Amino acid sequence: MKLLVTGGAGFIGSNFIRFMFNERPDIEVINLDKLTYAGNLDNLKELAGKPNYLFVQGDIADGDLVQQLFGKGIDAVINFAAESHVDRSILEPDVFIKTNVVGTQVLLEQARQSWRGSGGQRVRFIQISTDEVYGSLGAEGYFTESTPLAPNSPYSASKAGADLLVRAYYHTYGLPVAITRCSNNYGPYQFPEKLIPLMILKALQDEPLPVYGNGLNVRDWLHVEDHCRAIYTVLTQGRPGEVYNIGGNQERTNLEVVKGILNIMGKPESLISFVQDRPGHDHRYAIDAGKIQRELGWRPRHDFASGLANTVQWYLNNRQWWEPLIS
Ligand SMILES: NC(=O)c1ccc[n+]([C@@H]2O[C@H](COP(=O)([O-])OP(=O)(O)OC[C@H]3O[C@@H](n4cnc5c(N)ncnc54)[C@H](O)[C@@H]3O)[C@@H](O)[C@H]2O)c1
Repeated sequence: MKLLVTGGAGFIGSNFIRFMFNERPDIEVINLDKLTYAGNLDNLKELAGKPNYLFVQGDIADGDLVQQLFGKGIDAVINFAAESHVDRSILEPDVFIKTNVVGTQVLLEQARQSWRGSGGQRVRFIQISTDEVYGSLGAEGYFTESTPLAPNSPYSASKAGADLLVRAYYHTYGLPVAITRCSNNYGPYQFPEKLIPLMILKALQDEPLPVYGNGLNVRDWLHVEDHCRAIYTVLTQGRPGEVYNIGGNQERTNLEVVKGILNIMGKPESLISFVQDRPGHDHRYAIDAGKIQRELGWRPRHDFASGLANTVQWYLNNRQWWEPLIS
């Protein structure tokens, strides 16, 4: 099987490529990544020179390049490439539309042209989406696959736009797609602008830990390795045209997460510093992952407490990875 993985130099994409080579050492992977600030070839250093791995620096919105890569015979596409940070989308929405919406359409179109007439029994295009497309929950309830899309940030709106295009390519052209919508991920190689690595590195340097608003926003945390296994499950067993929610059922307020990190690191809670809330900050996300569990038998293997402790340890052990990123 030859996979085109986009955004494979980012956090989840690089974990996914490593996961795939462990799971299926015979697989071929082309990693197409623009290497924005979030892309980092150090994430996959050990793969350089491997005969069944090819890294290509480029933009998913570059139709000529994507067409050329499809010319190498691609069996399936896993589209991770995205601008992924909500705060950046508030400051600069344009690039989110270009990459997340236009880029996804370019990939879909090249897949359609390349796979025309080759049948659609198995999922061949996985769009890596997010629970954020569903908007925000109150204290009760869970997002299911039939929850209406109600994105609140330019980031989530661009991801929802991409999801609708993916859906349209299935219904209009029969492209064998699936969409996965996952909750917040954590684990090794996450860029230190996101909550968990940011707080670990601030605590390590005894700097104030900035927490938005009252810190009571709730997220549902999933270890990145569980996410990778879920994507692999959808690739091998998923039904074309379907959406699969993925979540770990590990809801925590941001404040609980930050206090947990301080506790693991033996640092005082007085380092917590409440800062002005993010505009349009969604209150709560919580995923009902019942469908992928019932239909495909996937289940998370990591619990949040041990996963968080391992993640803290990884950042402590891998200073050489994150130091250049924060300087
Ligand atoms: N991180 C999470 O908690 C989370 C949760 C659910 C879904 N997702 C989704 O998973 C995907 C990956 O997220 P992540 O956290 O690994 O993101 P990331 O920001 O760490 O990585 C994104 C990667 O995409 C690359 N990229 C950006 N624009 C590109 C373009 N135009 N062409 C090619 N490559 C480009 C970047 O260089 C980077 O390597 C995203 O689609 C995101 O929406 C993330």
